Amino acid sequence: MRILVTGGAGYIGSHTCVALIDAGHSVIVADNLCNSRVEVLDRMKEITGKDIPFYHIDVTDYVAVERVFVEHEMDGVIHFAGLKAVGESVEKPLFYYYNNLVSTMILAKACLHYGVNRFVFSSSATVYGDNEVPFVETMKLKPRMNPYGESKAMSEQILSDIARANPSFSVSLLRYFNPVGAHESGLIGEAPNGIPNNLMPYVTQVAAGKREKLRIFGDDYPTIDGTGVRDYIHVMDLAEGHVAALENLLEGVHIYNLGTGRGTSVLELVKAFEEANGVEIPFEVVERRAGDIAEFYADASKAEQELGWKAKRDLVAMCRDAWRFESSAGTLALSGTLGTVNVSHS
Ligand code: NAD
Ligand code: WQD
Repeated sequence: MRILVTGGAGYIGSHTCVALIDAGHSVIVADNLCNSRVEVLDRMKEITGKDIPFYHIDVTDYVAVERVFVEHEMDGVIHFAGLKAVGESVEKPLFYYYNNLVSTMILAKACLHYGVNRFVFSSSATVYGDNEVPFVETMKLKPRMNPYGESKAMSEQILSDIARANPSFSVSLLRYFNPVGAHESGLIGEAPNGIPNNLMPYVTQVAAGKREKLRIFGDDYPTIDGTGVRDYIHVMDLAEGHVAALENLLEGVHIYNLGTGRGTSVLELVKAFEEANGVEIPFEVVERRAGDIAEFYADASKAEQELGWKAKRDLVAMCRDAWRFESSAGTLALSGTLGTVNVSHS
């Protein structure tokens, strides 16, 4: 299949492009580079040996999106392009709703117009809110009270309604748990700008000496050791989950959790990272972070039964690959604040 990957220069999108190419598909990337770098396209080529057509466009711009559909015959779209910082979404709700909802509607509109009938959407476990664990797809949603989570729940609703009204349009809503790690080459990975919000990139930056110590947000939760528990999933497993979702997409709307089904605490992750990489992660315990919940992990059985997909990489691989990317010389070119990038338009 030939797949349009929006946000394909980003963290999960770039790994998914590699997994799609590995599985024999071809990809076209559309990204405005608001949270990624054009060099990632070169890295993807280095890994796969394939040229990837790249459109430096904003997918909230229908005219720009339409050009991609006119210039390429496509079998499906995977829509990663979105803004994802929970805290920033509280400060800039309009920016988040506009970007995340309008991009989804523009892409769906182009798909319907050009007869592209497969649509895979990046949703998030955040839509479950503070539910009972494990989170299962049939649960009533309680998006956390932030515009980011709401934008994911609303996008799910919009795509579901469109699919119901257009029976040939098939939608897969993928709810990711906590993606971590990097491609095993060390060439692509997670390179956040500024101070990382998420645990694993913060840990790798402490290991690299870029940050003095990890701050653990609370050790008084009702969990195994008092620290928050999450379902960390290797980004290449997640990427392969997209390939499975695309290849097994049936008519209608289908929702899948993409997680491992296992919970890991912050302290367990820190220990695993230290052991896997032979480095020390100094930390201090501080106050709980506002909006955090004690624990969540997936019931991952539906994806296994219906897609034949299951996460296979363990916590050691996640820690080792995250550190390989952070510590490899190649990463240096990707990290730091984003400057102006020169992009040749496809
Ligand atoms: P990322 O920021 O690395 O990638 C997103 C990409 O989309 C970036 O390259 C960015 O430049 C691009 N983009 C954003 N808005 C755009 C627009 N209007 N037009 C064109 N390009 C645009 O983030 P990621 O971690 O790879 O996340 C990908 C998707 O998965 C997002 O939708 C995110 O909400 C979702 N998700 C991520 C996580 C996570 O923990 N990383 C968890 C659940 C869901
Ligand atoms: C994991 C654990 C923290 C940083 C977020 C979004 C969610 C999804 C994934 C997009 C928690 C603790 C963290 C630190 C810490 N993204 N922690 N010190 O909060 O589960 O999910 O990213 O959809 O929507 O909310 O992930 O990596 O931030 O935190 O102690 O410096 O690590 O308290 O227990 P989270 P995270």
